[in-house]
Amino acid sequence: MINNHFPTVFAVLVILAAQAAPVRAAEGAHIPEVPAVASPGNPAEAQAILGAKLLVCNTCHGADGVPRNVGTPIIWGLQENYLLKQLHDFQSGDRNNEVMSWMSTALTPAELSAAAASFSKKSWPARPVAAASASPPGTAAVCQICHQQNFVGGPAAPRLAGQRYEYLVEAMRRFAEGERTNSADMTNIMKAMAPAEREAMARYISGL
Ligand code: HEC
Ligand code: HEC
Repeated sequence: MINNHFPTVFAVLVILAAQAAPVRAAEGAHIPEVPAVASPGNPAEAQAILGAKLLVCNTCHGADGVPRNVGTPIIWGLQENYLLKQLHDFQSGDRNNEVMSWMSTALTPAELSAAAASFSKKSWPARPVAAASASPPGTAAVCQICHQQNFVGGPAAPRLAGQRYEYLVEAMRRFAEGERTNSADMTNIMKAMAPAEREAMARYISGL
């Protein structure tokens, strides 16, 4: 399924980049390569290219900050240091995800920083929370050492509150089973939890 999206995303990116750089596209000399790079000393063009690239993110992460697919994380309002680390990790392969590794490779280092800054400054999207939160599972106190009170995140660890159940429980499973390896702390903590405990935590956090 992910593979089927691939050509579409690629085409959208190229088209958007072409619109952002009409001068170069009109020359007809070449279709903008990925990563599209602005001419040196042309901040306006750089800004337009960045804007076009960030629009592509919205196709999956949501134009209003709410991804249509529940397995895709909300990135609006996440901590800037966390966003930047993830983009670097996708790019280097330390975090393994086909689409995101491709997306992050389409951004220059400066654009990665700008993307992290831009999404972190947006407000966490309000959305209806299904059920009233139950009382926290016992392990919540451990998580809050890093993820903060109410799971809103901080310099040490990202916001989790309100992230969707499907994404959370899968992220936790991947740490536990060694598929996501970009945080030794998280791997150790998740390995120590039974699947049912992870599900209960994910359920609780998604309702915050
Ligand atoms: C084709 C769909 C798609 C597009 C386009 C896309 N993403 Fe993603 N993104 C995903 C999915 C799916 C994940 C979850 C990956 C995983 O499970 O490891 C993700 C994860 C992320 C994460 C990690 C969030 C977290 O909570 O750990 C960041 C940051 C991110 N994307 C930023 C971006 C940016 C910036 C762009 C645009 C340059 C972008 N994405 C474009 C699908 C997409
Ligand atoms: C020692 C600090 C620490 C503790 C304790 C901790 N975490 Fe984390 N957690 C992190 C860090 C750091 C990350 C980001 C890892 C990375 O760079 O990808 C993270 C990431 C996550 C993610 C992935 C977020 C995303 O958007 O992809 C989930 C889910 C998560 N933690 C759940 C938990 C739960 C549930 C607990 C308690 C049972 C917990 N964590 C305890 C530090 C911690």
